[in-house]
Amino acid sequence: MDQNIFSLAEKVALVTGASSGIGHCVAKGLAAAGATVVVAARRTERLHALVSEIDKAGGKALAVTMDVTDRDSVNSAFETAESQVGTINVIVNNAGVADTNNFLKITDQSRDFVMSTNFNGVWNVAQEAGRRLVEAQQPGSIINIASILGLTSKPGQSAYCASKGAVIQLTRALSVDLMKHHIRVNAVAPGWFKTEINDAYFETQAGQEYIQRMPARRLGQLEELIGPIIMLASDAGSFVNGAVLPVDGAIHACGI
Ligand SMILES: NC(=O)c1ccc[n+]([C@@H]2O[C@H](COP(=O)([O-])OP(=O)(O)OC[C@H]3O[C@@H](n4cnc5c(N)ncnc54)[C@H](OP(=O)(O)O)[C@@H]3O)[C@@H](O)[C@H]2O)c1
Repeated sequence: MDQNIFSLAEKVALVTGASSGIGHCVAKGLAAAGATVVVAARRTERLHALVSEIDKAGGKALAVTMDVTDRDSVNSAFETAESQVGTINVIVNNAGVADTNNFLKITDQSRDFVMSTNFNGVWNVAQEAGRRLVEAQQPGSIINIASILGLTSKPGQSAYCASKGAVIQLTRALSVDLMKHHIRVNAVAPGWFKTEINDAYFETQAGQEYIQRMPARRLGQLEELIGPIIMLASDAGSFVNGAVLPVDGAIHACGI
């Protein structure tokens, strides 16, 4: 067996939402596995700090400003990246937001905020990346960061659950549409990892009690997402397509 099947040496990987949390950690992991990493988000000063960190560790990275809800912003970020590091052939669609409230109280603005970032954002970036890969006649791997809440649900999360369920179905549909272009599309469904999106909740007693009901009795460590994403990005995942991979310490298996 080729020992280098997990290598990302030939890959140019885009990570959206790389200014914090999961995206920040995964960007470092992909760079350590050999990819040139394009880190994208709106808070650009954080991205520059991340690029310095990756540089110091011996990796290669580039920061681009991108608002995933804005087609022009997405297009211009791809233009900048492509001119400096070549065609992007691994895409980690990670940017996301949550807005917790009971369904009866959710405003249309809140719903649209969640859907336009979590769903339209994935759509915009995948379409831009797919068109450019086909134009360049290159294979690629698109990895959409969904959520365990795209497979199950939790009180107060209707917009978020709907957005992540839509990401999962989009993943399946794109895997079929893009297969003939040698572009694989998979989703990762993380369980619970403490980041800016949920840290306030996990400081509460309810959050601590929820952790005790989880099968693993703990949150995930951000680094535990790196391996599964490298598998999907690399030749190790060459026949994995249209899949949804929970990385959640078995929460999906018991549905809590
Ligand atoms: N943490 C968890 O337990 C968990 C579980 C399941 C799924 N997820 C998913 O994992 C992904 C990352 O979340 P996280 O936990 O790492 O949260 P986080 O720390 O809040 O990170 C969210 C990232 O998304 C970016 N972002 C938000 N809106 C954006 C926009 N319009 N354009 C570009 N970037 C945007 C933010 O960057 P800027 O504000 O700088 O633009 C930030 O880097 C999300 O899709 C989330 O739904 C997280």
